Amino acid sequence: MTSMFDFNSYLIAKNQQINERIDALLKPDASRIVSAMRYSLTAGGKRARPVLCIGAAEAVGANAENVLTVACAIEMIHTYSLIHDDLPAMDDDDLRRGKPTCHVAYDEATAILAGDALLTLAFQVLAGAGSEYPYSRLLEVILMLSHAAGYKGMVEGQMRDIASEGISLNLDEIEQIHALKTGALIQASVLSGAILGGGNAEQIEHLRAYGKNIGLAFQVTDDILNVEGDPALLGKAVGSDESRKKSTYPSIMGIEESKEFARKLVNDALAALNVFDSKAEPLRAVARYIIERKR
Ligand code: IPE
Ligand code: IPE
Ligand code: MG
Ligand code: MG
Repeated sequence: MTSMFDFNSYLIAKNQQINERIDALLKPDASRIVSAMRYSLTAGGKRARPVLCIGAAEAVGANAENVLTVACAIEMIHTYSLIHDDLPAMDDDDLRRGKPTCHVAYDEATAILAGDALLTLAFQVLAGAGSEYPYSRLLEVILMLSHAAGYKGMVEGQMRDIASEGISLNLDEIEQIHALKTGALIQASVLSGAILGGGNAEQIEHLRAYGKNIGLAFQVTDDILNVEGDPALLGKAVGSDESRKKSTYPSIMGIEESKEFARKLVNDALAALNVFDSKAEPLRAVARYIIERKR
């Protein structure tokens, strides 16, 4: 079975479903705010989080269509975080997803508001999806996503990331920042799909471990790509962590050890999937892809 699974075709098919649903959830109109929101949302992200949500639903026996709306809401939260992360007050980056960042293409005020609007829209979309999902599962997912994105999750991770510029951290501190700023939403993406898909308690616990490990592996790889990636493929600048004096895995343990650590995390993630059958092939492929990716 393993060798029969074609991950490239899978990604193309899922990306198309995701992009069509995003178009339906945020239709283009003449307003500047919608233009800015759609500019960043459709700029060409990898859609890793919605794919993880879908893959987890499939692993527990549901299908993509069942979780598509929630998957797209998660991508809205993620895109808001990127727009704000790139602002001059934060990482001050000019390039994202291969295009000028939102504040460069529009202006700072518009970028702040586009981020605000995407975050708000995500929860509007989630709350409005009541007819598609059992209420109790949907409510559990909304609660989990608000935690993951909020002041004890991604926002706290971003706070610590900014506060630690120029300060050298130890491995525990850096792991906590990474788990908060990136890991929390990635893990919540996986669990959203599993919960909405009707996974049982045992499946959800295994997917929690999977999500934690790939979430950290994802950010470790992001740090590695910031050192040795190709900006043309990445669609964003490299070398910025060093110039902003950010503590990262490569800066603390070196490139080779960082790669080794990311491989170990992915192996742990794969081990957590052992209880699943071939329906978890997409999640297995995403785990491997996370450390092999060039963008
Ligand atoms: C980039 O996320 C920021 C991190 C949290 C590491 P992605 O690498 O998923 O970016 P896109 O969505 O593909 O642009
Ligand atoms: C982004 O982290 C994390 C969030 C947006 C929450 P980074 O600042 O390390 O990611 P890139 O390298 O800009 O994508
Ligand atoms: Mg940042
Ligand atoms: Mg950044």
